[in-house]
Amino acid sequence: MASSRYAPLIENARRVLEANRLQGVSDWEGRRYDFVCPSAETYPFQWLWDSAFHAVCLLHVDPALAKQEVRCLLHGAQPDGFLPHMLLWDTTGREAQLQQYDIVLADPHFTATTQPPVLARAVECIYQATKDRDFLAEVLPPILRWFEWLSANRDPDEDGLLAILQPDESGLDASPKYDVPMGISARASLVAPEQRAAMQRLIERYQEARGDQAQMLHLDAFHVEDVLFNAIYGDGLRCLARLLDAAPDLDLPAPSLAGELDQRAGKVTSALLEKCWDEEAGVFWDLWGRGESQVKVLTISSLFPIILEDVPDEIVRRLLSDHLLDPAEFWTRYPVPSVALDEPSFDPSFRSQAIWRGPTWVNTNWYLYYGLVRHGYTDIAAELANRTFDMVMRGGQREFFNPLTGEGYGANDFSWTSLVLDLLHAEGHL
Ligand code: GLC
Repeated sequence: MASSRYAPLIENARRVLEANRLQGVSDWEGRRYDFVCPSAETYPFQWLWDSAFHAVCLLHVDPALAKQEVRCLLHGAQPDGFLPHMLLWDTTGREAQLQQYDIVLADPHFTATTQPPVLARAVECIYQATKDRDFLAEVLPPILRWFEWLSANRDPDEDGLLAILQPDESGLDASPKYDVPMGISARASLVAPEQRAAMQRLIERYQEARGDQAQMLHLDAFHVEDVLFNAIYGDGLRCLARLLDAAPDLDLPAPSLAGELDQRAGKVTSALLEKCWDEEAGVFWDLWGRGESQVKVLTISSLFPIILEDVPDEIVRRLLSDHLLDPAEFWTRYPVPSVALDEPSFDPSFRSQAIWRGPTWVNTNWYLYYGLVRHGYTDIAAELANRTFDMVMRGGQREFFNPLTGEGYGANDFSWTSLVLDLLHAEGHL
């Protein structure tokens, strides 16, 4: 039931999804595109994890649009299974925005890097809402191939954990947890230019091996087994396993056994527990380099295994009591900050002009909300949702928010902030 308190929030979230819809015919083989971009001003292209979140938002506008978003994204699927992190449908008049990004193209129309595999979860949400088996038959094959590509190309030591090759593959671009791997000495005011210079160095470093995933990983130039990326991957494997169980008679390519995917998901959780969990600190740390040293910078990634259903209760309890619910770390007025308050790099007000260094984002809250629900912490989940609604009402539909004051920063009319629609629905307000 729509509650009047949230009516402006709902209206605005829907307006933004409509305003950011881009449609047309691309010079990319004359293909038609129709998707929601993250922000018409600063991000007028299609991003991989953004579009998966947008599909979830669009379920609360029109399920046909949610499916359309996924179909458009899957134009990026390559014969070997790779899915790129950005699709450049139309660059005309958007050269200025493109210059702002440190990206490497594999083709004039897509990038050479990937992003967290949120898509499996988005497709499960679409299936739960629509029960459309034809849609599953259409989209599962390329998604299964992508998961296969990730496992074949990004897990050289076969421990179940995937490695990313550069910071923006996790979607957490300038997170301070990457400062040491990137060789950045973070003085807050200098982070943005230092970060760009470090990205350029990394791109050059990869030049000799570009296109050869194994060789790029072998260079050990960044190579981070990222906790957030892997938690989303493990969760995605489980979503795919459930979808295959729900539709056993669909004719799908290997790996098409739900059991196999489920087993792989179990391996991700085991590896996170074995290699990333720090019993003393009570959190998970990313692993850096082929030598797998733990990067002990406390960010939202450290809590992200909450989203996995098979993380033991005792561990979830510690993540909550020792960290998430601690006002000196993550439980601010507008949680959950991307970096813990007691980290020296914590930058709640975007002073550094570098992103993911303190502010709160709605997409990570969305994942944590469902993790809390799954582990039975419905009261905490509800509190997180309520504070998220208040934050967006206070700060507007921005890209990210000050976790202490709710002030909004970054892009205006940012699309995935519309995930509040899904949270409002889950909380019975929509
Ligand atoms: C920024 C974010 C990234 C997102 C992109 C488009 O680069 O860090 O996660 O995908 O913007 O919104």
